[in-house]
Amino acid sequence: MSEEPVRITVKPNGPLRVEGHIVLKDADGNEWDLTGKPAISLCRCGLSAKRPFCDGAHGREGWLCNTSPAGNLT
Ligand code: FES
Repeated sequence: MSEEPVRITVKPNGPLRVEGHIVLKDADGNEWDLTGKPAISLCRCGLSAKRPFCDGAHGREGWLCNTSPAGNLT
């Protein structure tokens, strides 16, 4: 049985969108309950009050970081 790979999308000026079978743990090995969540958004800006999850603060604060494998676009 093969499983689809986890996909991570770097959203322009926003979070890391993670889709697939996700296991998310803290440094002590405690696992977040992601039951029923086929995708999550992880904060990339450091401004979220709900880290490690994005809460939209990047947009409210005007955080800018657009990146791609071709290099920084901003
Ligand atoms: S990326 Fe959305 S709050 Fe940080």
